[in-house]
Amino acid sequence: MTRSALRNLALALTLPAGMLIALASNAAGNPDLPPGGSQLLAEVLDVCTTCDPLHELATEERSPDEWEQYFRDQEHQDDTPEDEGALADLSDQQIATLTSYLAINLPRPEDDIHDDITTDHLPADGAELMQRYCSVCHSLAVSVIPEWEIEQLWQDLLSDPHHRGIGLSDQRLEEIAAYLANNPMQPDDLR
Ligand code: HEC
Repeated sequence: MTRSALRNLALALTLPAGMLIALASNAAGNPDLPPGGSQLLAEVLDVCTTCDPLHELATEERSPDEWEQYFRDQEHQDDTPEDEGALADLSDQQIATLTSYLAINLPRPEDDIHDDITTDHLPADGAELMQRYCSVCHSLAVSVIPEWEIEQLWQDLLSDPHHRGIGLSDQRLEEIAAYLANNPMQPDDLR
């Protein structure tokens, strides 16, 4: 879609908020999106034999680097190199996606934490948020711009009048921006 086509679309868009939410929750999953932080966390915990239980991890406040070090120090069910530990199956891009997700979204408030907590109870990650919110008014292909334009994406999301109405919290916007920065995608890869 060209910019002018988008502008026309914008003029036609006078969706009431309720309808927008209904549309958003019907958005189909897009298999082409790279996995987000909560999915990657589930994968890591699955193979990690020494990691603390999730209800304890969810109360921790760590930087991305500290999270990376934590998982590197843990043991993987297979014999993996010592300096990779529980992260042995992940690419650098996936490690950055996981650790920024954890730094942005943890710790969880006490009330959200119980002994049986699973990654499904944690905040939606960048991939899930994009499925839910970024293919409602235009295709996901419009929602991704190359990495070097990430600052522009921030501006678009925060100051474009069409986007202000989406009503995402700062934490969710930060998660989407970090996910996009860590997973550069080409519009042609998406529909
Ligand atoms: C309420 C409808 C709506 C939703 C929901 C929405 N957008 Fe948009 N988006 C627009 C419109 C309208 C334009 C075209 C605006 C323009 O050209 O000025 C646009 C344009 C864009 C652009 C291109 C901007 C440019 O300068 O070329 C990007 C990137 C973008 N959206 C990202 C997103 C992301 C990421 C999400 C999910 C958080 C999202 N959009 C959700 C309405 C929406």
